[in-house]
Amino acid sequence: MSADGPPPGTRSDWTIDQDWQSYTPAEHQVWMTLYERQSRLLPGRACDAFLHGLDALDLHRGGIPDFSRINAELNRLTGWSVVAVPGLVPDAVFFEHLANRRFPAGRFIRRPAQLDYLQEPDIFHDVFGHVPMLTDPTFADYMQAYGEGGLRALDRGQLHNLARLYWYTVEFGLLDTLQGLRIYGAGIVSSHAESLFALDDPSPNRLGFDLERVMRTPYRIDDFQQVYFVIPSLQALLDATLQDFEALYGRLALSGDIPIAAIEPGDQAFTRGTQAYAAAKAKMA
Ligand code: PHE
Ligand code: FE
Repeated sequence: MSADGPPPGTRSDWTIDQDWQSYTPAEHQVWMTLYERQSRLLPGRACDAFLHGLDALDLHRGGIPDFSRINAELNRLTGWSVVAVPGLVPDAVFFEHLANRRFPAGRFIRRPAQLDYLQEPDIFHDVFGHVPMLTDPTFADYMQAYGEGGLRALDRGQLHNLARLYWYTVEFGLLDTLQGLRIYGAGIVSSHAESLFALDDPSPNRLGFDLERVMRTPYRIDDFQQVYFVIPSLQALLDATLQDFEALYGRLALSGDIPIAAIEPGDQAFTRGTQAYAAAKAKMA
């Protein structure tokens, strides 16, 4: 990632003012459309921690949320806050914010034509997707630890493997509960189509979370995931990452990647996916 400084008008830590007053009615409407669609879909799909967080932060009131309003409650609950940034920020900047319990969120919102898909994370993905989980004390600690681990991994040139952990947990993680699988990943809950696909579609593999296994598995950024990893609890996720990763990074340097759709002998398979979706897409390309 580039070592360029922040763009003009941006502070040295890459934050900007959210400038909530300047959102247009049309922009607020995009938030409300997305909010209504997802909040209808997610009960029984998203995990309790997410749904509680969504309630606690009252994210629907008046369209795009004002960060100063949600920060008052978020700070009280777990000591986290949301800060506005212009878009993707350099890795070191991102990790530094997480390590200090600040979540960097894009201030811009997608256009009405992009309701279902956009490449760069906007405020709906960042705030609706990520922030509710930050009200959970265990997940809040995990995200801070990830930031600290990210800074260390960056120093050691190990970001490649650590990024997969973020992807398969924070963005696309599933949780096993007595009621069945539930979503906690922000990339899923902020996507209408993937909130259905991740739980219901027979195509993807759904495998028990194993730290080293996850860090050996590549991911795709252009389409639905071919594999989701299922954690038994948020506490188990946090516990698995408390160890120093030094030895793990050493092993990962020697062991190869696992093909994205493979199921290994040691895997706990919740679903042996057909991979039909990915196969059909590959044929079209
Ligand atoms: N324990 C990890 C390390 O030693 C840090 C980490 C914590 C990474 C939580 C990811 C998630 O680097
Ligand atoms: Fe994200």
